[in-house]
Amino acid sequence: MKPDMDVVILGASGYGGGELLRLLAGHPHLHSVVGASRQHVGKDIGSVHPNLRGVIRGSFVEAPDWIRLAESDCPVLFAAMPHGEFARQLPHLEQQWHAAGLTERLTVIDLSGDFRLADGAGFTQSYGGEHPCVDRLGSFVYGLSEWRRTPLAGARRIANPGCFATALQLALLPLADLGDACPGWVAVSAITGSSGSGASASDTTHHPTRANDFRAYKMLAHQHEGEVRRTLAEEGAAIEFAFVPHSAPLVRGIFATLTFPAPGLSRNTLRDAYVARYDAARFIRLVDGTPRVAAVVGSNFADIAVEAKAGSACVMIAIDNLVKGMAGQAVQNLNIARGWSEDLGLAIAGAFP
Ligand SMILES: NC(=O)c1ccc[n+]([C@@H]2O[C@H](COP(=O)([O-])OP(=O)(O)OC[C@H]3O[C@@H](n4cnc5c(N)ncnc54)[C@H](OP(=O)(O)O)[C@@H]3O)[C@@H](O)[C@H]2O)c1
Repeated sequence: MKPDMDVVILGASGYGGGELLRLLAGHPHLHSVVGASRQHVGKDIGSVHPNLRGVIRGSFVEAPDWIRLAESDCPVLFAAMPHGEFARQLPHLEQQWHAAGLTERLTVIDLSGDFRLADGAGFTQSYGGEHPCVDRLGSFVYGLSEWRRTPLAGARRIANPGCFATALQLALLPLADLGDACPGWVAVSAITGSSGSGASASDTTHHPTRANDFRAYKMLAHQHEGEVRRTLAEEGAAIEFAFVPHSAPLVRGIFATLTFPAPGLSRNTLRDAYVARYDAARFIRLVDGTPRVAAVVGSNFADIAVEAKAGSACVMIAIDNLVKGMAGQAVQNLNIARGWSEDLGLAIAGAFP
């Protein structure tokens, strides 16, 4: 008999929660997903996520029933709440998991920034305030899927990367394979759509102030820089970067452009570094010309293109911030952690145009 609960999502009424529900509806090993919400308890999931009407039945719950979840062969928790909230709740949740016999069996994937950094000082620098659960920081595997397959295999606590951080790392890391041609410094300019700020309206997401505008924000001080630098250091990549994020009149999507001086570097040599790293990567496509946000939206693909001319080079990458930058990569990480095929629930193309 199929268990009546395999997956719990905390923060299921948000954008990330909605994307997890959408993707997990097509996952062959996960039969029942329960979404928790504070504001929408008892309401149909389709009343909050209208795209899921007729796809997912059921309503939001206030608190998960961990005893019921423990009946699953493969219990999973996704936390998709604002920064700080999952870390604040974790000690209490751990008591409940212990009582339900879930501690070792539960795969926990946090989509916030709470467990991406190595120490409390790094968290404070990136997010401000003290980390609410600092002694658990070292117990989460950083889930940059394509670069962390080995530690992810069998992992039960996973910190999902940030959306900009995913795009930047996938584009930056292969540069370290260029040897003497590896740039010591890279200029990174990237745009994101309004869904990057979540479902609650703010000045920066309100349509009239955003739809016909284009601007930079958090110049040289975005909170994802810390996790990118951590991975670069762990990979031995001696690359410094300066990152200027921009807010673009899109709903979904990230497009990042990396530029650096590259005397003597040919496009073929640069491209070969990405082919060598990503040839077998299911969700990375090397494209000619330019990547397009419209070609990846709705999908877990990251499209990358390179160019080198007249002593300079650039690398461009496009992802959907809510999928490869969030819920899709979380499902990919679950698949890797459980030893399943990496594309379960994710073998879908984007919606173009
Ligand atoms: N948006 C992106 O592109 C993106 C990409 C990567 C990572 N992330 C990260 O993923 C997390 C979720 O992002 P999101 O865009 O899905 O945010 P969101 O749309 O704002 O959703 C977060 C959900 O969490 C619940 N929530 C809010 N405050 C809470 C609290 N104090 N305690 C418990 N639940 C609370 C809310 O639901 P109820 O009020 O109904 O409980 C809300 O719907 C964030 O940490 C975000 O930084 C976002």
